[in-house]
Amino acid sequence: MQIAVLRETREGETRVGLIPEVVSRLIRADHSVVVESGAGVAAGFLDAAYEKAGATVATDAAGALDGADLVVRIQVDGPDEIAPLPEGVTLVSFIWPVTNTDVVKALVDKKISAFAMDCVPRITRAQSMDALSSMSTVAGYRAALFGAQHLGKFFPMLMTAAGTIPPGRVVVIGVGVAGLQAIATCRRLGAIVEAYDIRAEAREQAKSLGADAIEVELEESGEGEGGYAKELSEAGKQKLAEKLAERIKIADCVITTALVPGRPAPRLIEAATVEQMKPGAVIVDLAAETGGNCELTEPGQVVTKHNVTIVGTLNLPATMPTDASRMYSKNIEEIVRHLTPDAPGEGEAPSDEKVHLDFEDEITDGSFVAHAGDVRHAATREAMGLEPLATGGDA
Ligand code: NAI
Repeated sequence: MQIAVLRETREGETRVGLIPEVVSRLIRADHSVVVESGAGVAAGFLDAAYEKAGATVATDAAGALDGADLVVRIQVDGPDEIAPLPEGVTLVSFIWPVTNTDVVKALVDKKISAFAMDCVPRITRAQSMDALSSMSTVAGYRAALFGAQHLGKFFPMLMTAAGTIPPGRVVVIGVGVAGLQAIATCRRLGAIVEAYDIRAEAREQAKSLGADAIEVELEESGEGEGGYAKELSEAGKQKLAEKLAERIKIADCVITTALVPGRPAPRLIEAATVEQMKPGAVIVDLAAETGGNCELTEPGQVVTKHNVTIVGTLNLPATMPTDASRMYSKNIEEIVRHLTPDAPGEGEAPSDEKVHLDFEDEITDGSFVAHAGDVRHAATREAMGLEPLATGGDA
């Protein structure tokens, strides 16, 4: 198939959908790749490197899209970006369809088959395609470094001629993929780490990385479907915030990553708790994108309130574009492999199918949110006021 790689347009987006190393592997697998000029520059991949890998470099997006079967993006910056895509093409990108219904409408109007990176099922077979996980890994690592950077203290314990420095104390709240990486990184830097997640399994995983698990007795379960969390009652949230406050008050750095699918981020740190934290402490709020786990987080800003630095930086993977793009590219390579039609058997004529869409397959079924002029994603249909699909589609 012919694969187009477009330059990202959203402000602050520095990643690129395919890096040259992966381009050369795709070309060896009989695909062709056209890259919009400058697409990889912000991630450290120049046009010349793509040409060396065997790609064609087009001067603009229209040139890259000419003849494309599959278009690779990191994210789409609004419905206007769908209009230039060739009708019927396959788009692979983060889409967040439930909150971007205007983009979904544009995809439907142009009969685009849209593979949403954010809808890939969390099953073992799809792990290598799972960009939610790969990008969370980057974000968790970066969050730990932001914490260390903004703190006026060391993370490790040091015994020097200038005295003994006690280790930094970190609390990580929300131990999914990002939280686990944050714990591992803080531990490597020598901090003492405590961790809390509403899911018992996640607390066990935190312990295996050397963190102490914070235990909070709640009268309700926070375990949702598919390994995700569910939202607590108001009373449950209140009790949790109070219990966590006891640990947060003595921490030097708090990293929060708690999310509940389809809901605003749970509020876990009240303003009153920030007020009681140690002067100079740092909160890194990875949930800033969906409102923040801390009441005082300002999305996109680093602010100081009550002598505590609160980091609400958005799109952390874009602050590490080289390796974030490398991981995303590997996810794309696996998706391309998944969508490549089988070679014809002996004596069979080659089919003219360019992109193989088998909606009986769990990964294809769950990930394609739009196809052939219809919305396939159940929660998005609901958000758009459409009747549920009779068959297929995923929540
Ligand atoms: P996420 O980004 O949706 O949420 C982050 C964490 O916040 C979760 O661990 C969640 O339990 C926690 N959380 C939510 N509300 C909370 C609260 N009130 N207090 C404390 N913590 C709270 O999670 P992520 O990283 O996307 O992982 C979700 C699940 O998917 C996990 O079970 C993970 O193991 C699983 N997974 C499975 C994969 C596979 O099998 N292919 C790949 C990646 C993840």
